[in-house]
Amino acid sequence: MIKLYPRRIFIKLVLFLTVFYAIFISIKLILSQPNLRQYSYLIDQKINLKYNEIYFNLLASKHDFDSNTFFQKQVEKITETSITNDKLSMLWNLEKSGFKQEDTSIFEIETPSYFFENIESPMVQPFDSRFTIGIYYQYLQNVNSSVPFHWSDWVDLSKIYKFLINIEDTRENVCSTIFDISSQTELIKGSQIKQVEEYCRYEPDSLLGYKIIKETGPQTVQNRELLGKSYLFSTAPSPRKLIFLTNNGSFQANVETPLNQLENSILYNDMINNLQNPTKVNVLHNYNSLISSAQLQQQHITQQELTYQVLGIPKADFNIDPETVINQLSSSKLPLSDMEQQFLSSLKFSHGNTDPPKYFYEAKLLNSIPDDWQGEHYDWRFFNGLTVGKDKQAIVLHRLVKNYLNFARNHGIITWIAHGSLLSWYWNGMAFPWDTDIDVQMPIAELYKLGQHFNQTLVIENAADANGEFDGMGRYFVDVGSSITSRIKGNGNNAIDARFIDVDTGLYIDITALAMTDAKSPSRYDSMVSQLGKDAQMRVKNARGGEAGKDANYEIINSELQLYNCRNNHFTSYAEISPLVRTTVENQISYIPYNFITILNDEYNLSSLSKKNHRAFTFLNNLRLWFDTKIIKSHLDRKNSDISSEELTYGELHAINKLSVKDHLNLLASNPALLKEWLQTHKFTKLHSQELKLIRNQDFKSVQNLQKDKEIGKPLRSDLFMDLVHHDEDLKSLSFEERAKKFSNW
Ligand SMILES: *[C@@H]1O[C@H](CO)[C@@H](O)[C@H](O)[C@H]1NC(C)=O
Ligand SMILES: *[C@@H]1O[C@H](CO)[C@@H](O)[C@H](O)[C@H]1NC(C)=O
Ligand SMILES: *[C@@H]1O[C@H](CO)[C@@H](O)[C@H](O)[C@H]1NC(C)=O
Ligand SMILES: *[C@@H]1O[C@H](CO)[C@@H](O)[C@H](O)[C@H]1NC(C)=O
Repeated sequence: MIKLYPRRIFIKLVLFLTVFYAIFISIKLILSQPNLRQYSYLIDQKINLKYNEIYFNLLASKHDFDSNTFFQKQVEKITETSITNDKLSMLWNLEKSGFKQEDTSIFEIETPSYFFENIESPMVQPFDSRFTIGIYYQYLQNVNSSVPFHWSDWVDLSKIYKFLINIEDTRENVCSTIFDISSQTELIKGSQIKQVEEYCRYEPDSLLGYKIIKETGPQTVQNRELLGKSYLFSTAPSPRKLIFLTNNGSFQANVETPLNQLENSILYNDMINNLQNPTKVNVLHNYNSLISSAQLQQQHITQQELTYQVLGIPKADFNIDPETVINQLSSSKLPLSDMEQQFLSSLKFSHGNTDPPKYFYEAKLLNSIPDDWQGEHYDWRFFNGLTVGKDKQAIVLHRLVKNYLNFARNHGIITWIAHGSLLSWYWNGMAFPWDTDIDVQMPIAELYKLGQHFNQTLVIENAADANGEFDGMGRYFVDVGSSITSRIKGNGNNAIDARFIDVDTGLYIDITALAMTDAKSPSRYDSMVSQLGKDAQMRVKNARGGEAGKDANYEIINSELQLYNCRNNHFTSYAEISPLVRTTVENQISYIPYNFITILNDEYNLSSLSKKNHRAFTFLNNLRLWFDTKIIKSHLDRKNSDISSEELTYGELHAINKLSVKDHLNLLASNPALLKEWLQTHKFTKLHSQELKLIRNQDFKSVQNLQKDKEIGKPLRSDLFMDLVHHDEDLKSLSFEERAKKFSNW
């Protein structure tokens, strides 16, 4: 039972605010001398934050579930019951048997007989990441040079295989038969669709009979999937390089040819015959033996990991002159790799080009489709259906963060989480449940590095963790835009510099670089001028020019104040970012900007750091999780709560703040999704709350100790493919060969 005494709360609140305001005023007075103004700005923000935190947490209960044995016993019971009633296998990865270490047969695929016996092979094979990655791990052990590649081994393209044989009679208009929607007036109302001929070409001699040659404009969800997959099947160039992550460095292999040829897929490329043990492919065993094979030091890159607790970024990293880089590369004594050559021509193409073409295309959907905006959050080539609000979405975003951070840190790329991802980190170290993408930033010098060494690379997750237990099989495509030398908004085509794309779904991490430019910087940095030396102050004053700063020279102003911007005109100062602080994000090591509070205040306003309901979600302090507001409300014992509303009244907020241990147990017992989330995240979110406290006190030594926790680096959510293995009937019951038989009629 929760009772509320509105009047009493009101009196407390008034008293509290009066006292607080008095303290606030007196601190402001002390700090109002001019040389302390910048400092005062920061103090103001801290006071504001404290105030907000108190406001939203008034009388909140603190149950400390992490050391409450009664609670834990009850949760164990609830978990048992929930697993028993788990008809949809939602909780499979929480069962003790979910990842039984001794039994690795679930990671093993029997190689189909058509590889060995003299029988006809199918034209294409099913996709199974255990099979593909397992084979490449084994191949890398024996072969030193570059590897063959075809997208069909790395992405599930089976949805288009029905076109390989089935539409003989309509071949000539195959493009319009499948993709033309121009006559469906209701469907295309309000959308600027493209003519089919613009993106689809009749190719009688190809396997599909048609070829998708470029991005396609708005389409239906189903066609979007087919278009992306068709493009990957017969048009998309292969990645230039494969990077196999490990827990300590990576293995790298160049791809033999960028040409898209089915002959380069495992089914045709003879890799299997080069394996020592070709009949059974066990991805876990193969990973572990690759790691322990010593001969591969050549390809194994380890030396570059970033390990600093506090990482100062050289100022020069924000100021790169493309011409210098072009000259350096052009006159290089060492021969340039294919990737470097491509990078050089990309820089030449981009430098001085004031009207660069749009580089990234998303899976744009027709306006008439409900929630069509969701399509914007997927790369069109890898789109595989909408995932917003599904378990899949949380899994993929988690694995994206994990692999991006490990890839970047292991290869010495300086980067940090930004925007919404930084804000969600502040709350509990996890992404928000409503997130649709992830944002990171890097200095412009690091973007050049990414372009020079990793553009068009496929990054493959480490199949096992440091103890040899299964970890994951995610695959990510690194794609760097074609106009990275232009650092202002310009024609607005390219706000995003690069993407780290999940190839199973098309969901991605947006990578933006910060650089010093002559773009107009915002006035919030004016107070920093007083901290400069006399001469510099003078230079800024002159640069500001006449009345209202009309002819202001921002090149000088930005340089004196060390202000940087991305191509979407977000400004940040050097002092806000550097030094970066090592922290944990979703249980992975990451970096965040030193003055993240100032940055978040500029972008979102301080109330976003303490306001506990947003969109359809409310933050439960004791569980350290965001959860559906309406469901939480339905558990409140309050007469006049409007359960149909996503908003919270102040009274409801209080009732939520005061939820008892029993209330929480009831919530967990009746909401398997919440239970699952709590079980998967509570160890890490606890660590995050300790870490955040230490970071706010600038006790970096203790942060470092906290980060020695052996659990850090492990995934918090299941692997996407193994999740499918527990849900898909064919994957559950059929062998690889049987699955091949089933869809290819061979
Ligand atoms: C791989 O190449 C390096 C030199 O490039 C050589 O030392 C090593 O023996 C080779 N390993 C295999 C397995 O071929
Ligand atoms: C990572 O690998 C390097 C070189 O192989 C080795 O010196 C180092 O000890 C390894 N680090 C860990 C944590 O295993
Ligand atoms: C990355 O590769 C793509 C495809 O080859 C190319 O268009 C783009 O210009 C490259 N970006 C850089 C920075 O080299
Ligand atoms: C910050 O947010 C609060 C509450 O949402 C709002 O009232 C206030 O105007 C905002 N302040 C700024 C500077 O945007």
